[in-house]
Amino acid sequence: MAATTIATLNKMKANGDKIVSITAYDSSFAKLFDSCGMDFMLVGDSLGNVIQGASSTLPVTIADVAYHTRCVRNGAPNAFVIADMPFMSYSTPAQAYTEAAELMRTGANMVKLEGGEWLIETIRGLVERGVPVCAHLGLLPQSVNVLGGYKVQGREQSAAEQTVRHALALQEAGAQLLVLECVPSELAELISTKLHIPVIGIGAGKDCDGQILVMHDMLGMNSDYLPKFVKNFLAESGSLEAAVRLYIDEVKAGTFPGAEHTFS
Ligand code: KIV
Ligand code: NA
Repeated sequence: MAATTIATLNKMKANGDKIVSITAYDSSFAKLFDSCGMDFMLVGDSLGNVIQGASSTLPVTIADVAYHTRCVRNGAPNAFVIADMPFMSYSTPAQAYTEAAELMRTGANMVKLEGGEWLIETIRGLVERGVPVCAHLGLLPQSVNVLGGYKVQGREQSAAEQTVRHALALQEAGAQLLVLECVPSELAELISTKLHIPVIGIGAGKDCDGQILVMHDMLGMNSDYLPKFVKNFLAESGSLEAAVRLYIDEVKAGTFPGAEHTFS
């Protein structure tokens, strides 16, 4: 099968075909996800939580993400793989270039950064230097200490308008994909319509161009706390493979996320 590229994802958005994605951290799951037809995988800094057992993503380093990116790439040589730039690895454009290079060398096709307009110069510089960028707005887990907890973002009119403005600015700076985390579905729908780049939601309703989930959440391995937007796909499937295929099928059919997984 031909390798998935950003061109594939753009075509899917243009055709109205839902994009389905998941986090991955090792070669075995990467191989399974890829063989089931996942459109892309994210080596998320959520690895701090689900792999390392930390209470936030803040302890994760570039070396950690690079290690897991190499594992994922080994398991899925042709997959489209995005790697998260961890906390404080892109505090200046120059630092971002050095750290992103490390992730690209280990096999990432794109890097993801959390934040709004302050990233314009960084994104432009990365893209000019050959590093594709996925932006990330809404709930920003690396800013949990600023936000005062993991909460739905963009509920007030002014916050919603600011998120739209930032999304447009990041696209203009050269971001080729946007992750929207924990925002009301109406806002996510508006942004998905306004942007020409694919918008991937998590806790952002069904009207985004695609969906992403943390793999441990969709396999029901998060026993302490299940966010509203998560569904345990393994519970109603007989195997890991069946659970992954069910998730893919429900996203493609537009039946996941349902109203019960959505903020309004
Ligand atoms: O780190 C991660 O898993 C993420 C997704 C929640 C989008 O950033
Ligand atoms: Na992340």
